[in-house]
This record gives sequence, structure tokens and C-alpha cells, in this order.
Amino acid sequence: MAGNRTFTMIKPDAVSAANSGAIMKMIEEAGFRIVAVKKTQLSEERAGEFYAVHSQRSFFKELCTYMSSGAIIPMILEKDNAVEDFRKLIGATDPKKAEPGTIRNLFAKSIEANAIHGSDSDENAALECSFFFSNLERF
Ligand code: PPS
Repeated sequence: MAGNRTFTMIKPDAVSAANSGAIMKMIEEAGFRIVAVKKTQLSEERAGEFYAVHSQRSFFKELCTYMSSGAIIPMILEKDNAVEDFRKLIGATDPKKAEPGTIRNLFAKSIEANAIHGSDSDENAALECSFFFSNLERF
């Protein structure tokens, strides 16, 4: 059975462009409940830990530098079928391929500065939620 929680973070490009309010409104209007939220900034080392699964990919260093370049807004979200439905809401990784009306179609600048992250499985969602939030921060 699909899980009911996923993890997201609004990335530095979208936070610095003052798009986080509009993105959070889209998320809530799509039926997701915000269980946890904070504003923070990753060090390059912490970004490397978060994206460790991609450590062998050509863009790993750029990804970590970019993800530690400014503030981010991590969140835990709740909805039936959360992981799959949220990936649909954000659209493809490359904004040129993202469906019209998706968050990346509307707000992403490039494949790197692509506005928002969404977990790709229930298992990774649980790990990513715990990377940023303790149980006391979930409501
Ligand atoms: S996914 O969501 O895992 O299927 O996407 P994937 O294409 O495998 O990309 C994994 C994350 O790496 C980012 N990415 C890049 N960053 C910098 N440069 C390039 N060329 C690039 N290609 C992909 C992509 O935004 C994914 O980040 P997250 O935070 O998971 O969305």
C-alpha cells in the first residue's frame, strides 16, 4: 500500500525569488497537509550527505554547491498516495520537460535550479523526513 507522507524542500532559487509562498499555496490547494516546515541552509557537507545516492553522478559537486548556496524550506507533507501524487504536482526534473501547470514548469529556472525536491519512494521519504525533522517537530 502506498504511504501517506512525502518529503519536499523548496530550493534556493525559488526561495530567493520569493516564490515559496506561491509554491506552498499550490501544495496546500492540491490537498497536501503540511506536517512540518522550517527555513534553514545546508552546508556543502550536509548537502552531500542528503544527496549521497547521487555521489557518482557527473553533476554531484555542482548539485551540492548549489543546494548549499542559500536558504531552503524543507517540509513533510501528508496525503493519500503522497509520493506519487507529489511527483506529479512538481513535474519532471528538467523544467523544459515539466507539464504545464506543474511547480517546476511555473517556477524552475534550469535542471539544477529546479525550484523543488520531491522524494522518489516511500522508503526515501521516511529517510529524508528524518534527515531534517525530529518527531517533536511533526504536527
Ligand atoms: S530524480 O528525481 O532522482 O529522478 O532526478 P534525477 O534526474 O535522478 O536527479 C537527481 C537530482 O539531481 C539533480 N540534477 C542535477 N543537478 C545539477 N545539474 C544537473 N545536470 C542535474 N541533473 C539532475 C536533480 O534536480 C535532482 O535533485 P532533486 O532534489 O532530487 O530533485
